[in-house]
Amino acid sequence: MRDRLGRVIQYLRVSVGDRCDLRCIYCRAGAPALAPKREVLSFEEIVALVRVAREFGVRRVRLTGGEPLLRRDIVRLVSLLRERCDLEDLSLTTNGTKLLLLAEELKRAGLDRVNVSLDSLRPERYRAVTRGGDLAEVLAGIERAREVGLSPVKINTVVMRGVNDDEVTDLARFALKRGFVLRFIELMPIGEAVRDGFWRRTFVAAGEIRRIIDRELPLSPDAETEGGGPARYFRAEGLPGKVGFIASITRPFCTGCNRLRVTATGELRPCLAHDAGIPVRDALRRGDLEAVRNAFVVAIVGKPPGHRWHEAPTRTGMDELGG
Ligand code: 5AD
Ligand code: SF4
Repeated sequence: MRDRLGRVIQYLRVSVGDRCDLRCIYCRAGAPALAPKREVLSFEEIVALVRVAREFGVRRVRLTGGEPLLRRDIVRLVSLLRERCDLEDLSLTTNGTKLLLLAEELKRAGLDRVNVSLDSLRPERYRAVTRGGDLAEVLAGIERAREVGLSPVKINTVVMRGVNDDEVTDLARFALKRGFVLRFIELMPIGEAVRDGFWRRTFVAAGEIRRIIDRELPLSPDAETEGGGPARYFRAEGLPGKVGFIASITRPFCTGCNRLRVTATGELRPCLAHDAGIPVRDALRRGDLEAVRNAFVVAIVGKPPGHRWHEAPTRTGMDELGG
C-alpha cells in the first residue's frame, strides 16, 4: 500500500524485546524502563501481525531489539516467520554478542542475513563505546555469520567525532578486504545521543567520512543498489567488500522511506523520528485481525513526511547540506 506521499510500504522492522547486553553510549536500550513480559508480543502475535503486514505489501522483515538474540527461543520465531509469512527477505540486526553461538541455527531456521553493529576495531575502544563489550567475541560472530551464509553480512558503524572518527579508514579497509558490506551511519539526534550536547559535539557528516577514506582508498560508486534501502555504496579497486553511507541527516531519505516499525509491546510506528504509534497488541490478543488491519491503514495514511533533524544547526554538518 502507498501512503499519502506515494511511498510504497514494503518493509517492517519488528522489535522483539527491549533488553540489551551492551549499553552503547548513544543508545537508550542500555538503561531502559523494561516492559513487563506480559506486555511484550508473543511469537504467535508477531506472526499474526506480520501476516497482516504481508496483506499490505510488506515483503521484507527485520528483527531488532534491544538485542533480538537475547529473546528466548528467537530461532523458533525465525522458523515461524519463515514458514508462515511468505517473506522475500528476513533479516536481523544484532550487536553480535550471541552470533557465534546462534548463527548456524538461525540460518537453518530460515534467516537470510544479519546486520551487525560495530563501531570500533580496537578492543579497548569497543569496550568503552559499548560500555563493556568484547570485540573478539563479536568479530568471531561476524565470521561465523559469513561461514554459514547469512550474507551479505552487513556491518553498521556509527561515527562520532573524538570517539572513532580516526578509525574510519581502518574500518573501511577491514570491510573492503574481507568482503563485508560496511555502512557508516550518521549519528541521529535520538535516545542518549542528545544528552548533554553529545550529538552536536560528535556528529560527523557522511561526506566528511567519505573524503577521509578516499584519501587512502579511492572509492568509486557501486553500480548495484543494495537492498532498496537508504545507503549509497562504494567499492575500492580490486577489493571484494563495499562501504556505504547512511546520511540520515545530511541527505535525508524520508521521501523514499518504505518502512514501518513495531515496538516490542506492539505499537505500530510509522516513523523512526516520531514517537507516535498505534497500539495493536490488544487487538492481536483478541484475535481481532480487522482491528489490526485498521491500525495499518491509520499508520500508513498517517506516516509523517519525515524528520526535520537536518534543520537543526549542526556546526559540523551544515556545510554538507548543499547536495
Ligand atoms: N544514531 C545512529 N544510529 C544509532 N543506532 C542506535 N542509536 C543510534 C543513533 N542515535 C544504531 C546502532 C545499531 C542499530 C540498531 O541502530 O548502532 O547499528
Ligand atoms: Fe543499543 Fe544496539 Fe548498542 Fe544494545 S547493541 S546498546 S541495542 S545500539
